[in-house]
Amino acid sequence: MEPLLSLRTFLAEVEALGELREVRGAHWNLELGAIAELSYRSPQPKALLFSEIEGYPSGRVLTGSTGSARRLGLTLRLGDKHTDESLVEALRGKPSAWAAAARDFPVLPVTDAPLLANQVAGEINLLEFPVPRWHEHDGGRFIGTGCLVVTSDPETGVHNGGCYRMEVQDEGRSVTIAAVPGKHGAQHIDAWFARHGRAPVTISFGHDPLLLALGGTEVPLGVSELEYAGAVAGERVPVVIAPDTGLPIPAGSELAIEGWLRPGRLLEEGPFGEWTGYYSGSRRPDLAMEITRLYHRDDPILLGAPPGRPPHDYSYMRTVMKSAMIHDELVATGVPGIRKAWAHEAGGGRLFVGVAIEQRYAGHARQVGHLAAQLPAAAYMNRYVVVVDDDIDPADLDQLIWAVSTRTDPAEDIEIQRRTRGSRLDPMLPEGATPYNSRAVIDACRPWERLRSFPRVAESDPAYLAEVRARWGEVLG
Ligand SMILES: Cc1cc2nc3c(=O)[nH]c(=O)nc-3n(C[C@H](O)[C@H](O)[C@H](O)COP(=O)(O)O)c2cc1C
Repeated sequence: MEPLLSLRTFLAEVEALGELREVRGAHWNLELGAIAELSYRSPQPKALLFSEIEGYPSGRVLTGSTGSARRLGLTLRLGDKHTDESLVEALRGKPSAWAAAARDFPVLPVTDAPLLANQVAGEINLLEFPVPRWHEHDGGRFIGTGCLVVTSDPETGVHNGGCYRMEVQDEGRSVTIAAVPGKHGAQHIDAWFARHGRAPVTISFGHDPLLLALGGTEVPLGVSELEYAGAVAGERVPVVIAPDTGLPIPAGSELAIEGWLRPGRLLEEGPFGEWTGYYSGSRRPDLAMEITRLYHRDDPILLGAPPGRPPHDYSYMRTVMKSAMIHDELVATGVPGIRKAWAHEAGGGRLFVGVAIEQRYAGHARQVGHLAAQLPAAAYMNRYVVVVDDDIDPADLDQLIWAVSTRTDPAEDIEIQRRTRGSRLDPMLPEGATPYNSRAVIDACRPWERLRSFPRVAESDPAYLAEVRARWGEVLG
């Protein structure tokens, strides 16, 4: 029987939905990445399972795991019949409920798992697996895209699971982990360095994409993503306890490693095609892992999630997760009249957020805009928040641009926040500069004092339109 959070269970379900395609014989060097990239841009991209990869008689790679409402709904245990809109609606309220319930789902240590079929201690070569070189100007082969990096708080023992890019180093003997300072995994690693001079980690490279969605999204500090995953699945997550580090590895993993990070053990990594749609800066040193053990199933499947110019592998997932979380967090502030929030895929689910409100008082729109730009779910790398009236669907870019074009006076309606939380991945950040950014709050609501007198929108009454459509259906098609 497959353990909970097995990627193979997920694949069987996706295949039953008709959303899986097998691709045989692609090359790991650029070709696999290019096929995935073309697929993301197609109208209804399927998940792609690459097998018989050039030069690799065994080992497979999955891309596009969460790229549709049905697949992401399945991943989040919200049902597989959703549209984009209904999925975000179904997700509303869930992240905070799951975070609160996480403690009731402690991980479940097990001693038997398919992952343990093959174990290597000592001489490890990650290039025995078909690790892709995803984009032409990447600095190397990145095994960690859809991975889960597990660390712990040395004081409380609470685990964190984060998704950070990882480049294969030293001819397969090591990997660098590019956790940005301040991310929870990076905080744990720093705390271990300060207390013990080294930091333990385990990493899973193939698992139910629920762990990609949770590891890749801002779950509150102090909440273990593995316990959170248990709350989502309604069952404790079985884990193998790695013997050298004592950290958990999901028993459903395809391929995993354990080992140590040390403050001075750095290797150059990057650049890498990133979620902003640009390569990240230049090659620079990052923490390189001393791998003590490797575990893998037969013919293991790597969970690929390469970013790039949107739409990319996980931009849809990010949009859905962030839209629901931003909406929830706005409502939780107690500010009234919040109708909908949408974190656009074109902005990687972070840079460009639209919020619709029913205006209740003078200053309401600005209040919502400023709050939205600084919510925990949005603060990292937001750049634009556009607030619109509730006759505008903020998920529809055409409607959003129409509101900005016709309901703003640029001299009055664009507010700037400065020295806010940016990222070293920001293509606008000069090399070596401190990662601040600025952000604009665009108030594209009709001015409060002119709500009643603002020119009427030139469109017919919806009831009349429905009547006409019924009468003229043949002409209108
Ligand atoms: C596929 C993928 C790759 C990511 N790569 C990185 C990365 O290299 N560095 C980083 O700091 N965050 C990266 N992120 C974003 C983090 O996973 C995200 O901010 C998450 O909340 C971090 O977890 P933490 O808050 O528990 O540290 C990536 C996310 C995804 C989905």
